[in-house]
Amino acid sequence: MSFKATARAGSNIAFIKYWGVADPHLNIPLNNSISMTLGALHTTTTVEWDVAGYLRADQIVIDGVRAEGPKAERVTRHLDFIRHLAGDRRFRARVVSRNNFPMASGIASSASAFAALTMAACTAIGLSLDRTQLSAIARRGSGSASRSIFGGYVEWERGGSDATSVARQLFPPDYWPLRDVVAVVSTNEKTVSSQNGHALALTSPLNSARVDAVYGMLQEVRNAIALRNLEHLGPLIEQDALAMHAVMMTSRPSLLYWQPGTLEVLHAVRRWREEDGLPVYFTIDAGPNVHLLCEPAFERELLRRLQTLSSVRTVMTSGPGEGAEVIDQHLF
Ligand code: DP6
Repeated sequence: MSFKATARAGSNIAFIKYWGVADPHLNIPLNNSISMTLGALHTTTTVEWDVAGYLRADQIVIDGVRAEGPKAERVTRHLDFIRHLAGDRRFRARVVSRNNFPMASGIASSASAFAALTMAACTAIGLSLDRTQLSAIARRGSGSASRSIFGGYVEWERGGSDATSVARQLFPPDYWPLRDVVAVVSTNEKTVSSQNGHALALTSPLNSARVDAVYGMLQEVRNAIALRNLEHLGPLIEQDALAMHAVMMTSRPSLLYWQPGTLEVLHAVRRWREEDGLPVYFTIDAGPNVHLLCEPAFERELLRRLQTLSSVRTVMTSGPGEGAEVIDQHLF
């Protein structure tokens, strides 16, 4: 038996955000979140368990660079939990991971990374688990990774325990071929990781108001997706993105992820929508880049207009994609 497996998982873009934790150890969130798994922006990860016992420690390489410090510790902690589940704490692992998009730039690389790592590591160690169980495990590594286990349109139920705080698919990827056009205004590493940011949400006086508002919006968001109605969905997405950033800005210490380019894109999108009727809506994760959602018919026009904005460095695009999957092509 080989103790090696490779998995690929897409990143995801949240329509209703996960921001703030009720239980920081288990990553149990304050509210349900809803996202679209991205088909074109993904992480591939190969895990091989060293059953012969050559390795003294886990060996982790991310995008060609040996991971050390907190990044490596986070992966090792996740592997520790999987070792514990498999009932063998001795095995160390070789992990090689590759993203096809820049890390730590507000494109949720932790989501695809921990979804792919979970599926590859569990498969390689011989655990046979369903997607709901994988979602719970991925959540411990990174909250948003719980959603990337599933494809298409996905809701992560807050739940109240390790077993119930899991994601599920609302609609498959081919239900609605919405486009996510990411206007990249900066690719610098984030100054505050979302991991540290979640702990600060409770310090904002706006946090509870946002969480209450989310619970009023969830059914509307599900309905808008069910009806494939972007004109209904778009304003809800924008409202929660702005509410989340208001919480971030008003937490102690304050988090300000936006750059001047972020605002240039936001104003341009509103202008194009209001003056020219271009049906495009924005959302922003824990970074400066802006995700723009539109129907496929408007993507070309949107790309053309984004080229006229001085702060847009590059653009990445994706439609909805499948959930995490085991693949045959190992990275080593
Ligand atoms: C702003 O899942 O990256 O992208 O659990 O600490 O890894 P950790 O946080 P993470 O938080 C994502 C925050 C967000 C919103 C979202 O994707 O829902």
